[in-house]
Amino acid sequence: MSNVKVFRLAYADFNVINAERMVEYYTNVMGYRISEEQRGVTYLSNGLDHHNIVITPAETKAVRRYGYQLDGKLSLEEVQKQLHVQGIASTLKSDAKPGISSNLEIKDPAGNILELFTEMEQPAVGFGTSGIVPLKLGHIAFYAKNFKETINFYRDALGFNFTDKIGESFANFLTCNSDHHVLNIVASNETRLHHIAFQLKDASHQYASSDVLTKNNIPVLWGPSRHTAGHNIATYHHDPDKNVVELFIDLDVFIPELGIFEPRPWHEELPLKPQIWESLSAWGTEFEMDLASV
Ligand SMILES: [Fe+2]
Repeated sequence: MSNVKVFRLAYADFNVINAERMVEYYTNVMGYRISEEQRGVTYLSNGLDHHNIVITPAETKAVRRYGYQLDGKLSLEEVQKQLHVQGIASTLKSDAKPGISSNLEIKDPAGNILELFTEMEQPAVGFGTSGIVPLKLGHIAFYAKNFKETINFYRDALGFNFTDKIGESFANFLTCNSDHHVLNIVASNETRLHHIAFQLKDASHQYASSDVLTKNNIPVLWGPSRHTAGHNIATYHHDPDKNVVELFIDLDVFIPELGIFEPRPWHEELPLKPQIWESLSAWGTEFEMDLASV
């Protein structure tokens, strides 16, 4: 265990095949604003931060980097020392990305590259005035090889809490703040994105988001339905690179001091504690797309 504490997922940096269409999707459909373009790379903001989504043109699609913000109680040098004690190699970098003057690059056991930082520029480009305009980037779900080691890595090295599971090894939910999950790690023999999720304001926002998607010829593939683990009401669609994107409301709020979720009228039991769930939908709804294997 260490004192290293991540407290939020700040950005996902995508390698994309259809860069122009992805930027068009994030600006016109998702309502993000561009904060900077540099050498063909586009930095998009969810209002305050320099970037929350990065679009990097590439030949194959992948998540290039995940950006996590540390609580700032330790300097990056101190974080590096603590990780080193646990046998985790890291590289301290200066100006590796616009908006972040220094970061610590590490690799998780699944092979994802993480950029840990304490401060990001906050130019406050504001929220878009058309399109979906999420409240924030909420969570990432990814397929992981070495998934048990990967779960332990996030919990023991970066200070995440384990919340729920679906099945013994399918979905494993971890959080670094009060959101039910910031990460969902899915057992696999390969490492790749399962989905990226954005938080919306309320039910009317979620209905409006489906209308925006439809107007842009993007079908809703799953949902709206309420999940079991997390109890978020979710819809899923594809971005132009065929990454699965979730839009959600009503995500459970975790209280680590009590080991329970804040009570809600739709909870199956009170108090609701982390547990193993069997199915995906609390409403029992089924959709054509099988979320278990996207
Ligand atoms: Fe999700």
